[in-house]
Amino acid sequence: MSTTPLVESRPWKALEALAKKMKTTNLRTLFLEQPDRGTSFVIEHGDLYVDFSKQQINADILEELLRLADHVGLADHREAMFRGDKINTSENRSVLHIALRLPRSASLVVDGVDVVAQVHAVLDAMDEFAAAVRSGTKLGFTGKKIRNIVNIGIGGSDLGPAMAYEALRFYESDDLAFRFVSNVDEIDLQQATVDLDPAETLFIVSSKTFGTLETLTNALSAKDWITSSLGDERAVADHFAAISTNVKGAEAFGVHATNVFGFWDWVGGRYSMDSAIGLSTLIALGREQFDALLEGFRAMDEHFLTAPFEKNLPVVMGLLAIWNRNFMGRPTTGVMPYDQRLKYFPAYLQQLTMESNGKSVTCEGHAISYETGAIYWGDRGTNGQHSFYQLLHQGTTVVPIDFIGFGRSTQPLGNHHNILMSNVFAQSQALAFGKTAEELRAEGTPDELVPHRVMPGNRPSTVILAPKITPRLLGQLVALYEHSVFVQGTVWGIDSFDQWGVELGKVLAASIIPELSNDVPLSHDSSTNALIRHYRSLNEGENERDND
Ligand code: F6P
Repeated sequence: MSTTPLVESRPWKALEALAKKMKTTNLRTLFLEQPDRGTSFVIEHGDLYVDFSKQQINADILEELLRLADHVGLADHREAMFRGDKINTSENRSVLHIALRLPRSASLVVDGVDVVAQVHAVLDAMDEFAAAVRSGTKLGFTGKKIRNIVNIGIGGSDLGPAMAYEALRFYESDDLAFRFVSNVDEIDLQQATVDLDPAETLFIVSSKTFGTLETLTNALSAKDWITSSLGDERAVADHFAAISTNVKGAEAFGVHATNVFGFWDWVGGRYSMDSAIGLSTLIALGREQFDALLEGFRAMDEHFLTAPFEKNLPVVMGLLAIWNRNFMGRPTTGVMPYDQRLKYFPAYLQQLTMESNGKSVTCEGHAISYETGAIYWGDRGTNGQHSFYQLLHQGTTVVPIDFIGFGRSTQPLGNHHNILMSNVFAQSQALAFGKTAEELRAEGTPDELVPHRVMPGNRPSTVILAPKITPRLLGQLVALYEHSVFVQGTVWGIDSFDQWGVELGKVLAASIIPELSNDVPLSHDSSTNALIRHYRSLNEGENERDND
């Protein structure tokens, strides 16, 4: 790794010059100049066919981006992660989500402990528990079979399991129902449980720290629901499981020791869907399909670790994100899965990308002078086309898009899938090539409408195509984004694995909670004081009104 500051490095300067040039041309010209562009900027690996040709790049840009990767020591940093070095510097932790999917035969010793053996011991315990639920031998307190699984967690302890369940629920057994509760708004828990029989319901309290207020509040209310409906405190042991690095905290809550599944501080919350946090996924899919999910992750890990950078999907994807963010000035990225089953994938990616790379100091704590993490957002196609795509096509902000589509539906019906996928190709095409005033006039568009109908084009997108959604495919897709985030964080020199920015709000909320229901003096800023007073006034007499 070079000691020259990033923005003064040769590749950075060269990329700035190349961006200047790129801004004077457009994708139409690039495709005309290079007729095989549509196949030459494609990387295929495993089940993924990834077409980068509609990004505003050329061979020189890619070469310089690869030089930038060398300049920041990407290969060494990647190896440091895979080795278990403490690359989460601000928390002094290893970053080993890759160990969660290593095969039983592997070994990775960190601080004198073989983490692979630990991972498989927990996987086996989870499997035993999941098998008992799936086979109907896991009974509730009153002797009824457990039929409902409610995962309580938030952030990484919710988004991964909820996304994976939605994506893969067609593998689930008909006998079980799954719900996901995350919001401390009581409506979430109430709606999730309203039609469930407590005697048949198992709560999985998922919390890395077992200290997250939202999760603990929901878990306590769930505990009340179980004990008041079943009329016995002892019911908690049969109706709760927990997943946490804080095994003692989970046991203190009342979860039976055999129902607590641990993981480790070297798994970040947003990188934990394939740890014990995936217990609900394992119960829904069964061991064979859960193993296929892990295999998918592992296949992408191996590709990331071994493929030459120019053919390495996460490396190229991460570097293109750098290109768009730092050189083409794109502040946001859209992710549009054209598959209903991936409807929670954008939300999942929001945490993965923004909690990882939304930082403004380097690992050493120095202020950063360049842009870092882009804002990620998105929705399913084709729904987005009928709402926000207008801005994507004609707005003043250019948003690079990742389109994700599949060769086959998991449940074919008539011509739906062809219609769906025609839109992936059409949208990517329209964004890239647009429609000129001349073309519109030639088609007979009235002069006064021409400016309104011009589509500027030259808007970048990547298309990710895969055969169909399977556990293995989902593992590959998630790991692709995980490692792309790593590549970006490495270039920016930031710690992609801490999240200090979420702490202040938690501390402030903790100080405000008692002030909302007690008439104590307030010492905040004038806005917060007034808001709290107004909130109190909204609740005055609330009890009397409720009783009217
Ligand atoms: O507040 C942010 C965060 O710490 C995320 O990083 C994490 O995924 C989420 O809260 C939930 O944390 P826990 O799993 O410890 O309850």
